[in-house]
Amino acid sequence: MEARNIKKITVLGAGVIGNSWVANFIWKGYPVNLWLYSAEEEITAKQVVQGHLEGLVINGILGEEEIPKMMKLINFTTSLEIAVKDAQLIIEAIIEDLTIKQKCLAEIDKYADTEAIYASSTSYKLISDIAKFSQFSKRCIGAHPYNPPHLIPLVEITIPEGERGSKKTAKIAADFFELINKVPVILKKDVSGFIANQIQSVVSTKCEELLANGVCTAEDIDKAVSFGPGLRWAIVGPYLIAQLGGGEGGIKGITLHIGKANLEDANEQAIKELEQYADFIQEEVNKEMANRPPEFGNDNKSLRKFRDKVLIKLLKAHKKI
Ligand SMILES: NC(=O)c1ccc[n+]([C@@H]2O[C@H](COP(=O)([O-])OP(=O)(O)OC[C@H]3O[C@@H](n4cnc5c(N)ncnc54)[C@H](O)[C@@H]3O)[C@@H](O)[C@H]2O)c1
Repeated sequence: MEARNIKKITVLGAGVIGNSWVANFIWKGYPVNLWLYSAEEEITAKQVVQGHLEGLVINGILGEEEIPKMMKLINFTTSLEIAVKDAQLIIEAIIEDLTIKQKCLAEIDKYADTEAIYASSTSYKLISDIAKFSQFSKRCIGAHPYNPPHLIPLVEITIPEGERGSKKTAKIAADFFELINKVPVILKKDVSGFIANQIQSVVSTKCEELLANGVCTAEDIDKAVSFGPGLRWAIVGPYLIAQLGGGEGGIKGITLHIGKANLEDANEQAIKELEQYADFIQEEVNKEMANRPPEFGNDNKSLRKFRDKVLIKLLKAHKKI
């Protein structure tokens, strides 16, 4: 199967994530089977999905007249068999409980096309564990969205470890997400919390520590993050930020400069390791830069220009400029 063969999508679960996924897919024109854990969820699901689409209308992304035909693309069902049997992509967004996810996948194994991709939205469970008893583990991936999935482009993809996983499945899924303008990232290992939640959890721990130590208020922390690093993180990641922070010396320059200043024991071996790391990270950043389209900045000068352009847009939205 290829990404373009994905014509119908199943979303399992009509909670925060499921409903947002549905809004994303119908906005992009895909018919969706939305599986409801209980029939009563249909009313709320309709309201929530419609609300997401209305948000796109208010912000000039969609015409209001498009909403009814998009809403008609949803087929609500409480039957797992009906939900999955004609779909090429099955997005699971049910409760974060390993046993329940495993049982759900066992049912899917009975009814879904063997070619269909099963993608779990899990935040912290390993796809290796979710797919542990599946007959078709090679079609299983973790596909972690960021709330709200209909707006945030990131989808982090993992596959079961070893023989039970398939890089091909991850690639087809990544191609599909790119088709609908998302940003897929395929991880090299199946890890709990993927990339973003692992980073976020370090930030959260630090925030709790600052608060507990009476350094500042919750409001101060929110201001410090959203009017400081958050503004830059919305444009480029920590490595490209460091590339710009290093001026003409790039990330290698700043790594050596800060690294040497902070070495507790600046012995020959430690300096050598730091220099090796600085070379390595500069090479990584050079590769990343080379992959960037010129309009988003692919050298120091154009990247700085792009950063400033988006920064000014964000500051205008915050009425800080
Ligand atoms: N909320 C987030 O920010 C976020 C972000 C990324 C990923 N996720 C992941 O997405 C998944 C769904 O999270 P959510 O925030 O939408 O949760 P939610 O509580 O809003 O929705 C969970 C859904 O699971 C259904 N459900 C409850 N018990 C069930 C059962 N026994 N069997 C099957 N379905 C059952 C509920 O009816 C509901 O529709 C989780 O795996 C979560 O880790 C959440």
